[in-house]
Amino acid sequence: MTKFNRMEEAGAGIPPVTEPARQYYFMERAAEIIRRKSEEAGRPLTFCVQTFGCQMNARDSEKLRGILERVGFIKSEDESADFVLYNTCTVRENANLKVYGRLGALRAKKRENPNKIIALCGCMTQEEEVVNTIRKSYPFVDLVFGTHNVYQLAELLVRSLEEDGMVVDVPDATKGSIVEELPTDRKYSFKSGVNIMYGCDNFCSYCIVPYVRGRERSRRPEEILDEIRRLTKDGVREVMLLGQNVNSYGKGLDEDIDFARLLARVAEVPGVDRVRFMTSHPKDLSDDLIHVMASYPNICRHLHLPLQSGSTRLLKIMNRRYTKESYLALTDRIREAMPDISLTTDIIVGFPGETEEDFEDTLDVVRRVQYDSAFTFIYSKRSGTPAAEMENQVPDEVVHRRFPHLLRLVQEIGRERTARFTGQVKDVLVESLNEQNRDLVTGRIMENAVVHFPGSASLIGKIVPVRLDACRGFYYLGTPEF
Ligand code: 5AD
Ligand code: SF4
Repeated sequence: MTKFNRMEEAGAGIPPVTEPARQYYFMERAAEIIRRKSEEAGRPLTFCVQTFGCQMNARDSEKLRGILERVGFIKSEDESADFVLYNTCTVRENANLKVYGRLGALRAKKRENPNKIIALCGCMTQEEEVVNTIRKSYPFVDLVFGTHNVYQLAELLVRSLEEDGMVVDVPDATKGSIVEELPTDRKYSFKSGVNIMYGCDNFCSYCIVPYVRGRERSRRPEEILDEIRRLTKDGVREVMLLGQNVNSYGKGLDEDIDFARLLARVAEVPGVDRVRFMTSHPKDLSDDLIHVMASYPNICRHLHLPLQSGSTRLLKIMNRRYTKESYLALTDRIREAMPDISLTTDIIVGFPGETEEDFEDTLDVVRRVQYDSAFTFIYSKRSGTPAAEMENQVPDEVVHRRFPHLLRLVQEIGRERTARFTGQVKDVLVESLNEQNRDLVTGRIMENAVVHFPGSASLIGKIVPVRLDACRGFYYLGTPEF
């Protein structure tokens, strides 16, 4: 593609050293280049950001889109766009394979449009092996960056436009600062994720996240609260506090604060009608947190509490630092304080050495806790993690026998449990028009269940009372009560 000479750039000068000023400088530089390229092409240039994985990535993608819009690209959902960016996940091997498959398909599109820029970021790129594969097998990729320099997109884009060859800039995940206050393009005008911490220090033995996301770093409470105040002024009514392990929020900060106290302060911000958070580690969930949740009516009655396994023996090898009994005691305490709360979880089947007995323990916890829903995963070997080195990997046929059994149980219980509000009138935050039937709108109750009911687009972003007439598996059909 056409490379631009640095000296010819309008606005070229010395880039500021401090952030975020430096990125605003590069946004201007990038905007000038994009304006010129778009004049050459005789049409606006488009971008498409594809997100894989978790809520943290979804939030990062809003920041990436915000920067791309600021520099003058027009948003598109189509991968024929001039700039295509994959924000990747690597938690399971499948996630990587999916990205390689999609990149293969992009190769043909790049032939059609040689000016196309293809970029890759997110957790996958933090693995050296992945970067080597990209260099070798996908040389048409223009830009590769990591989880820690999402905020630098404008600077990296300018480099990619000016330099020949693939630009690879993946900082070490164990270091790095947190730079916020850059433009974002929120998917929803009325709700937003807010990062409260980055990274994970838990090193569960199967998990690659601590290696690709680095050490835990908490944002300062005032910075978080300021962001939330700004969001509410901008029409946001629901915030989702995000972190790999929100319950250990505050470690390493000068302020004397923990997650329970942060949550209470967030719940008190005027205009915050709903607060959610994700993800909680059972070992760090304090009674203070349960107390705060029960005390504020605007804290959503939903906890995602990953179990992983119900076997105390396996939990120890997984390095989860709780037992079957302590997990059950915790869910009992939560239910005692908030009987109607929704509990959801993550479960892994086929962790190395998992016996029938271990698996039975998992089923037992599922029956006892009565989850509203659960994400069930087949164990995936991630190189570099301790579990990948374990010799007693469970044969595929055993895993494939156990997995559907668990899935059936989880669905059966989920269906029954979700139906508990049938006949009640509940507040629903309306999120969108229904995808199948445009005479219906879709929203969520505080407990996270989805509700479809008759209504129009004017309701989107409003919180309205709805009678939950019938539960159809994992969602309700309702009628407006207003
Ligand atoms: N294999 C399967 N599932 C995994 N998870 C994390 N690592 C692995 C792995 N190696 C699951 C856990 C976690 C969720 C986000 O992904 O259940 O809670
Ligand atoms: Fe992975 Fe465990 Fe950290 Fe969750 S808590 S991100 S499963 S290491």
